[in-house]
Formats: sequence, C-alpha cells, structure tokens
Amino acid sequence: MKKAWWKEAVVYQIYPRSFMDGNGDGIGDIKGITSKLDYLKLLGIDVIWLSPVYKSPNDDNGYDISNYQDIMDEFGTMEDFDEMLSEAHKRGIRIVMDLVVNHTSDEHAWFVESRKSRENPYRDYYIWREPKADGSAPNNWGSCFGGPAWEYDKTTDMYYLHLFSKKQPDLNWENPAVRREVFDMMTWWCEKGIDGFRMDVINLISKTKELPDGELNGLYGDFFPYSANGPRVHEFLQEMNREVLSKYDIMTVGETPGVTMELAKQYAGEDTHELNMVFHFELVDSNGKYGKWSDEKKPLSEIREILSRWQDGLYDKAWNSLFWDNHDQPRAVSRFGDDRPAYREISAKMLATCLHMLQGTPYVYQGEELGMTNYPFKSLDEFRDIEVLQSYKDWVESGLVSHEDFWPCLLEKNRDNARTPVQWDDTENGGFTTGTPWIAVNPNYKEINAKAQVEDPNSVFHYYRKLIALRKELPIMVYGKYDLLMPDDPELYVYTRTLDEEKLLVICSFTEKERTFSVPEEFAGASCIISNYEVEKTEGEITLKPYEALVLHKK
Ligand code: GLC
Ligand code: CA
Repeated sequence: MKKAWWKEAVVYQIYPRSFMDGNGDGIGDIKGITSKLDYLKLLGIDVIWLSPVYKSPNDDNGYDISNYQDIMDEFGTMEDFDEMLSEAHKRGIRIVMDLVVNHTSDEHAWFVESRKSRENPYRDYYIWREPKADGSAPNNWGSCFGGPAWEYDKTTDMYYLHLFSKKQPDLNWENPAVRREVFDMMTWWCEKGIDGFRMDVINLISKTKELPDGELNGLYGDFFPYSANGPRVHEFLQEMNREVLSKYDIMTVGETPGVTMELAKQYAGEDTHELNMVFHFELVDSNGKYGKWSDEKKPLSEIREILSRWQDGLYDKAWNSLFWDNHDQPRAVSRFGDDRPAYREISAKMLATCLHMLQGTPYVYQGEELGMTNYPFKSLDEFRDIEVLQSYKDWVESGLVSHEDFWPCLLEKNRDNARTPVQWDDTENGGFTTGTPWIAVNPNYKEINAKAQVEDPNSVFHYYRKLIALRKELPIMVYGKYDLLMPDDPELYVYTRTLDEEKLLVICSFTEKERTFSVPEEFAGASCIISNYEVEKTEGEITLKPYEALVLHKK
C-alpha cells in the first residue's frame, strides 16, 4: 500500500462560527481560531479542515459564497487568515479549505450578472430553464433544505436551479468557463500555501442534461438519480486533478452523499487521479418517516456491517475517511454513545477507540474531543439552521405531521446540535464569547469544557490525545489490514489489524451491561496500549465493564 501523509494524519474540523470568538461580537472568527492553535497542537492533530470562511451573506452559514477570494466580514480579514495559516504551519498543522463549488451565493458577482438578461456573458454560469406552459417549475425536484429546487426569476421569465436554498444557485459545470474560473480560484489558494480541499457535495456537480422529474418523495421529486454522480463528474474531477491538484502536495476529500463503494473506488482510487478520499454517509444518513427526520437509533449490528464493508471494500484500492459526526450531524456521543452523565465520558472514549483504530483518516469534529452533547432545544426560536426552519414549515406548518410527532425527530437529527459553541471553560457562555452568542451555548458547559479536561489526565480530551499520539508511534494503526471477529455479537464490536507479524485486537463494548469476552489465544502476552478503564486482565476470559474499550498489541 502506498504511504501518504494524509493517510497518517488526523483531521480536526473547525466550524468557525462556533469555535472561538476573538472580538466579543458573539460570532466565532479567525482570530479566535488562531488563539486556540496551541490547544490543537496539544491535542496533536495534523490538519484542520476549515468550514467556509469566504465572503458570504450567510444564508447557509458560509456554504453560500459571494466571493471565493475574500474573507467573511464577521470572521475577519485576509490578513487574519494569512496570520492563522502561518501560525498553524509554525506548529506543524496544515489547513484544508472547504471548497463549495456546486453552487455559489445568489449574491456572487457571477450570479448578479447571470440573472440580468438572457444574453449576459455570465448567463450560462448557472442552470436556467424555461417555465412549463402553465408557468410552473421546469421539473418537480425538491431542494435539500425543503421547498422546490427551482426559483422563478421574473427579470428574464426563467427559473434557476438550486439544489440547496434559493440563495445557493447551482453552477453550470458543463460550461468550460465555469471550470476555468474554479480551477484558477483553487490555484490561487494553493499558491497561498493552503494544504488541501474538502469538497462540498462534489458528486452533485454534473447533472443529466434532460433534468427529468424525480420520483415523488413527500412533496417533491427526488433529484438524486439525475444529479448525484452524474455523467461527467469523473471527467470534471480528473480535469481538476490535472489542472490543479496534481501540481501541489495537498490532500483532498470529497463530500459525496449517496456514494456507493464502486463509485468511491473511482473517486478515491489509488490510481484514478481524482480525490484522495471521500465521505460516505451510510453511517449517519437516516431515512425515516419524515425523510432525514427520524428518532431511530442504528443498532450495533448495522454500524458494524457498514464499517466492515467499507474497510474490506476499499482495502488496497482506495482510502477511507472515518467520522462519527460533523457540522451537519448530531453529536457523536449523543447519537452513537450514551450521553447520560454516568456514561458520557466512557462511551465517548469507546467511540473514539472504535473509529481511530479502523483503517482510514479519522476526522474529529470540534468539541467531539470533549464529549460535547446534543443541545436540549425547547422551542423553535432557539434554532438557527435554515434546514430546520424550512423543514418545520414543510412538515408541521403544512399540516402533514403533528408537532408532537415531528419534534422528537427534529431534536435527534438537527444540525444545530453540532453548531452550539465550543465549551472552553466554566465562565459565562463557556468562554466562547464575552458578547451574546449567535446561538445558545449548551447549559452543560460548567461540567463539560476544555479547561477542565486539559487539567484532568483522565478526560475525554486526553484520551483523544493519546489515541492521536499512538497513531504516530504505530504504523499498524494506519496501514494494518482489518479483520472482523464475532460478526454477530449484539453488543461487542471486535476486530483485528494486521501488519506483517504485528497485530492489534480492538474490543469495544456498545452496551451499558457488563459482558464477558475470551481473549483469543494468539493475543496471550499482548500489551494493552489504550483503554477507557483500568485494565486488570488481558488474557483468558475477561469481564468488560459498560462501554469498555481496549486495544491489545502483539508483536
Ligand atoms: C454540504 C455542507 C452543508 C451545506 C450543504 C450545501 O452538505 O456540509 O453544511 O449546507 O453542503 O452547501
Ligand atoms: Ca467575532
């Protein structure tokens, strides 16, 4: 297997708005990030994936970009950015930018021009279509955030496509001029010295030409079969690779909702010249009664089946990315662990063990290293995310579902769970800001915060630190082959990693019950390299405590 620094790295995702406020206006910013680089250095991460910091009217918190070569006013200036980048580099931390090029903001200069007239030179930068004879939208597609995927623009009596909010018009990648602009912009950032790109919904950039109606899914048609992994997507990515990526020593990860294993091998193949890795969403996607809104919990059997299939499927062919959560998902410990006070820390450590011992590049989402939890939302006005507000309209205010039925699902899956501010200490607002935070701070900041955890050697923070440090000592964590044991156990997830003569045994208990487990003979005499409890015995029959995790190493 080819070695690469990005295979050996641990990535830490920063959602700048909620990370650290440097100037007291209640909004996280770049100076705030710079002030916390020493904290990240202590944690030991190698790479920061920075959610968008570009100029944006913030309809979707920066995922609607109005100028790719400028910084959002609320986050600071380009000088602040340059300072952050050089301070990060001084500490050996790389910075990967979020590249959002499936769409721009409707306030981007290209779109401002594009909508002016049918003849405007920028018209074909976006996807415009005539209304149907009755004046309705060109097809039945719904947008990801609810509502239709088409917006009527009366200036030219045509509709434009927006797979996300109507302030996020989709770029027309069929137009070579669009691709040239995007590649030039990427080159500009690479020349500045950034270290890679996380590519937002990059598998949506090529649409089928005809844009046919989609199968009805609730109120609207499903655009996925006609927009995801479309006819020219690989061609576009190979062109991007040729024109930009291959010229720099950077890492790339594609956000690819709905990606299959076969497609992942193409997008992130060792020799396919597209991307280094992709995010698949099998672990975190839910498809319940109300679309993504559901309160079902994935059983261990499903989690293990998904992870194992991807471990085996990509082995030696492509590279996995590993994550429990991000800015679009509820908090890992609340969702996959157990966030009741008695089990929060222990289950957060177990989840970390389970993920970091797999093959792939692990991603830590800000606050995950503290075991931060979902937020106890009480009313709709506490939410900030457009997805929540639009979905509540579509499902509840429309009369389709009762508030009582919908609310528990909303609580489980909403993205604002992950967007409450990082809890730095036990002072007001968790030390995130001296002003009024743009979104509420989780009231549990007095118990759960970075300061307390940095001081406590048994904290979730130090556990992550140890896992990250182990990765640097043990190439087997990166390059070892994965094998699943006990595939049918309802509560234990057990697997091995093998590199030449060396082996790891990873045992993770997903239950609050005690369990017994027989350590396989071949691990007799192995040493325990990490565990979330004091380990007394590592041979023969052992008793696993609630959510226990341990890793044995045999050389
Ligand atoms: C991606 C981002 C998400 C954003 C969407 C539209 O899924 O992760 O936060 O809302 O794309 O850009
Ligand atoms: Ca600020």
